[in-house]
Amino acid sequence: ENIRLSRQAVNFCHANGVPVEAELGAISGKGLTLEGKAGNEGERLYETPAGLINSIGLQNPGVRHFIQHELPAMKRLGPAAMANLGGTIETYEEGARLLDGTDVDLLELNISCPNVKAGGIAYGIKAESAREVVARVRACTQKPLVVKLSPNAENITEMALACEEAGADGLSLVNTFQAMAIDLASRRPVFQNVFAGLSGPAIRPIALRMVYQVCKAVHVPVVGL
Ligand code: SIN
Repeated sequence: ENIRLSRQAVNFCHANGVPVEAELGAISGKGLTLEGKAGNEGERLYETPAGLINSIGLQNPGVRHFIQHELPAMKRLGPAAMANLGGTIETYEEGARLLDGTDVDLLELNISCPNVKAGGIAYGIKAESAREVVARVRACTQKPLVVKLSPNAENITEMALACEEAGADGLSLVNTFQAMAIDLASRRPVFQNVFAGLSGPAIRPIALRMVYQVCKAVHVPVVGL
């Protein structure tokens, strides 16, 4: 089908000798915006000694395309299907309304993408901005709503509590840490947006500390990532 599971997910299943669909609790698509996006120009991936910096820029086919094409294929695979919403507050709301009328199992609200100019991480730094976004999206859908948090939040515990109070049914954390890289030959930043998002072994202990803090603070389920 036209669904590609992440290499880690597939490797995990193969290493454990189980069919992919039996091992996974849910499958998430790429972060969606209302209209499709081509993503960022220039370099998008850069390896560091202990991680990967990405600047994808939410490349995706758009919510309506997802509903027509990717979602039915995901549903046929078996595990719960999750739609991840990126973008701005207005497009989160419209996307949530459209997805509410489908058989998607849960929505994940990405208030943590560091690679887009509007929305994304702009909502994920201050707890009060996140509270407003989550409350507005909550009003647009009956689907279970998971909010994906940024490690760049001013205070991760306050952020988590604000999202829970605003109606999140679950939290997932962490998205990538804002980072940068320099190309030594050109003496210029590698990424056109200068900053991009770092994931991988370098951040794992810090992410784990944040997951632990949030688990202690909230009552809703937490997805550690
Ligand atoms: C991206 O598309 O730039 C990465 C997604 C994210 O970090 O939320």
